[in-house]
Amino acid sequence: MHDPRIIVALDFPSAEDALPLVKKLQPDLCRLKVGKELFTAAGPQLIEKLTHQGFEVFLDLKFHDIPNTVASACKAAANLGVWMINVHALGGRKMLTAARAAIPHGSATKLIAVTLLTSMDQSDITDIGLQGSPEQIVERLARLTSDCGLDGVVCSPLEANHLRQQLGSQFCLVTPGIRFADGQSDDQKRISTPRQAILSGAHYLVIGRPITQAINPVSVCQQINATLA
Ligand code: C5P
Repeated sequence: MHDPRIIVALDFPSAEDALPLVKKLQPDLCRLKVGKELFTAAGPQLIEKLTHQGFEVFLDLKFHDIPNTVASACKAAANLGVWMINVHALGGRKMLTAARAAIPHGSATKLIAVTLLTSMDQSDITDIGLQGSPEQIVERLARLTSDCGLDGVVCSPLEANHLRQQLGSQFCLVTPGIRFADGQSDDQKRISTPRQAILSGAHYLVIGRPITQAINPVSVCQQINATLA
């Protein structure tokens, strides 16, 4: 089966804003990510529309709640027929285990976790009482995610190499923060080119603005795929 590495982040406020771009893209070029904003606005109907068009969807809702609630939410998300969903590793071992039990290993829907939000720096970490550097916390939470049997984590491309070595080749690494060597970085700080990210061990690349704001998004996807071939 064709397994495109690009996941285009549909960071749009409504289905009306997102669909013109989707119309230009093709499922053999990329997958699609729907996050909290678009899902809250457009709901399961949009997911159905995207999957009906043949796209595999990463539903990026980052569940974080008591184990029972997260398990039920994961089931409801998987029932939408999405390819990937995620939870917060900070929800802890019981929550992660409950999520895994709801979406057993080998299900059609992959279950991954967010470790530490990349927006958090040392002062945020100290504020909430966590110990260690961001790098140490990311590794600890990724290891916990792996121990609980989840399929992988979202991580910075700059962390991918280390996590790949620590957690093995089967553990799925999904990396945002992808930019072209000659492009603008927007608000992303820890960035990498698509090829560098894959060489560092990323399986999938979440890419937003470099594709969504491009004049020709299909050609950008094709160029990226060519650099990964
Ligand atoms: O436009 P850009 O390529 O920066 O979009 C990156 C996407 O990845 C956005 O949807 C953003 O919310 C998401 N993301 C991220 N960093 C994380 C987790 C998710 O940029 N640590």
